[in-house]
Amino acid sequence: MDCLTSRVIGTGSALPKRILTNGEIEQWVDTSDAWIRERTGIIERRIAGKGESTAELAAMAGRRALEDAEIVAESLDFIIVATFTPSSGMPSDACLVQSALGASRAVCLDINAACSGFLFALQMAHASICAGLAHYILVIGAENISKVVDWKDRGTCILFGDGAGAVVLGASDSFRHGILDFECGSDGERGAVLTMTSRQESKMAYLKMDGQEVFKFAVRKVPEMISVLAERNHLALEEIDWYLLHQANARILGAAAKRLSLSLERFPMNLDRYGNTSAASIPILLDECCKKGIFLEGQKMILAGFGGGLTWGSCLLSW
Ligand code: UT7
Repeated sequence: MDCLTSRVIGTGSALPKRILTNGEIEQWVDTSDAWIRERTGIIERRIAGKGESTAELAAMAGRRALEDAEIVAESLDFIIVATFTPSSGMPSDACLVQSALGASRAVCLDINAACSGFLFALQMAHASICAGLAHYILVIGAENISKVVDWKDRGTCILFGDGAGAVVLGASDSFRHGILDFECGSDGERGAVLTMTSRQESKMAYLKMDGQEVFKFAVRKVPEMISVLAERNHLALEEIDWYLLHQANARILGAAAKRLSLSLERFPMNLDRYGNTSAASIPILLDECCKKGIFLEGQKMILAGFGGGLTWGSCLLSW
């Protein structure tokens, strides 16, 4: 088959069993269910327990994506795991996933681009397939953020959750079904607004965030990169059926939709149930939407992530 581009041929996700509600968090920090719902849209999130490490959740999501794609693990040429909360420093979570799935031929690596990690990994996978280096690549976003959250900091502990989402990317011989373009970037100069110290710097690695600054960055950058993608591909924003954005805050999605003059109905959301799962949020949402059957063949969509680094990444594709 001639390979013109790559396309998603399977999706999967895995969420921890334990549900943590806003009401529970109210009991140990000065916050309220009403404040969290109104300011973020989050109602509950999942918290990983035993048997639900980042790599274990990643492997579960990966296995489901392989089943959905109807290919065996031995067919995989690469496994890329996007995470800023890997199970350990070494081996990489991608190698742990390889071992769990029996993907013996795969080249395995982790990447860290925080909440944009899945988009960056997707771009690398797409480039590898288009360059003829691979036929099938498992791209996973997986996080265990509850382990690095300061549960006494009400500015961050209410926001995040754990989980994993995965896609299998394969070759496509037609642009009618596949990835059309990417728009990604980074601004290391502004990284201080969202940080996590490494364990070399301090015993406890906690996530710290200037929420308002990240909020302002997201509300400006998301519409900007979406407009660039649409214009470069000669598409009106209304011709793009779905916008799958990183699930950080319902108000960010609302502001992006408003700036683009689009109905919020084109922006599926699940952050009410899972909170912000960083690199995992877009592939989890993609999997849920696929399983609901809301995407029609040939529909256009944009996936867009943003976060620590600072980083941002988006992908235009035809389903
Ligand atoms: O994945 C990418 C990274 N993250 C994000 O995208 C997050 C982006 N930022 C946000 O989502 C929002 O900035 C937050 C949800 C984090 C905060 O919402 P905000 O509307 O920007 O609140 P704020 O920081 O402006 O704080 C407003 C007030 C403050 O009180 P005062 O000074 O007005 O008395 C805060 O102390 O709300 C207070 N506050 C809270 N109150 C109750 C902050 N957090 C809480 C809380 N419960 N959990």
